[in-house]
Amino acid sequence: MAPATSAVREGGLEGIIVADTRLSEVDGEGGRLVIAGYDVEDLAGSATFEDACALLWGSLGDAKGERERVAREVAAGRVLAFGRLPRLGDALEREEGMDALRAAVAHLSERDGFASPARLTGAVAVFASAWARVRAGASPVAPDPSLGHAADYLRMVQDRKPDPARATALDAYLVTVADHGMNASTFAARVVRSTGSDLVSSVVAAIGALKGPLHGGAPGPVLDMLDSIGTPERAASWIEGELAAGRRIMGMGHRVYRVRDPRAAVLERATLELQRSGVSTGRLELACAIERAAEGALAARHPDRALRANVEFYTAVLLDALGLDRTCFTPTFAVGRMAGWTAHVEEQRATGRLIRPSSRYVGPRRARA
Ligand code: COA
Repeated sequence: MAPATSAVREGGLEGIIVADTRLSEVDGEGGRLVIAGYDVEDLAGSATFEDACALLWGSLGDAKGERERVAREVAAGRVLAFGRLPRLGDALEREEGMDALRAAVAHLSERDGFASPARLTGAVAVFASAWARVRAGASPVAPDPSLGHAADYLRMVQDRKPDPARATALDAYLVTVADHGMNASTFAARVVRSTGSDLVSSVVAAIGALKGPLHGGAPGPVLDMLDSIGTPERAASWIEGELAAGRRIMGMGHRVYRVRDPRAAVLERATLELQRSGVSTGRLELACAIERAAEGALAARHPDRALRANVEFYTAVLLDALGLDRTCFTPTFAVGRMAGWTAHVEEQRATGRLIRPSSRYVGPRRARA
């Protein structure tokens, strides 16, 4: 069946269907996210990241053997990528994690063994953690292929094996962000693949799109906001000041959701579970107070447009509680979204169809001579 690619409509690009997908569905009105047939609330917390990868990459059944194969391949990708670190030029010296990730992934090619979603997904976790280590003045930590992807990623960043509660929380995060419909970075990846280009190039484009603060770049600034506000009593006046100055409140609002982003609730729950297991989740209370204040202030200004917490709001709280530096937040988002990007790229490849949207010309017209 040919995918529907409709022409540009009056009023913008929202709602235009550019692909049929079996990977995920975002219901903006109902606040529901289904990933490979499962509600995100059910998947996060019960599935590992590798389970989610196996679902997205094609084994929709519960075949245990297939999940184990995927886990082995992702781990093999980590090992292979670690061996590649000395040949990444100055990629890991970039100031920004997403610049480092883009440059590092751009060094890979299918000929070097990175032709599969699993291998490339393993590589991105190694590059993100190696960049974090180099930035902190330390040496990259080699992967341990016997660990799950989430646990090994934390271990490679922090140079110590995480306790099960932290590994479970990061697994929940990676699963939660694994895929999300036709978001900007996924679209970018699919467009590149649709030209007949390769998997690595498609993922490089996606990393570039995810970097922006209106997409994946928001969680670091969310933590900056929590720091600036400091105490719950200051939340309302600080938010009012930002809105009066014409600035946006990071972690609030969404292009598709007209209710609270369901992923915010999943990550809030994961943070609470971490707290129950004895891990300090320092900023959770403050974050809840700021969310309430921001929701109220935005509702007063935009009574017809529900602007509520999105995934980035509680990403900041959870990843901070896991001890990740805020500069690692967006690269960690990329570690999780690799599952979805690569699945979409494969799905696009299978269609063999070029994505070629239209634009509406609004420039001058001169009479033909
Ligand atoms: N803070 C303040 N105002 C906001 C806002 C926010 N977070 N999000 C939207 N608005 C305002 C817009 O400025 C616009 O106001 P106007 O009508 O007076 O111009 C109005 O709400 C409607 O916004 P809309 O154009 O429908 O939002 P969008 O779909 O273009 O934007 C986001 C969606 C995510 C880009 C936007 O909500 C945003 O910038 N959020 C903060 C960044 C963020 O958290 N990004 C991560 C997304 S997962």
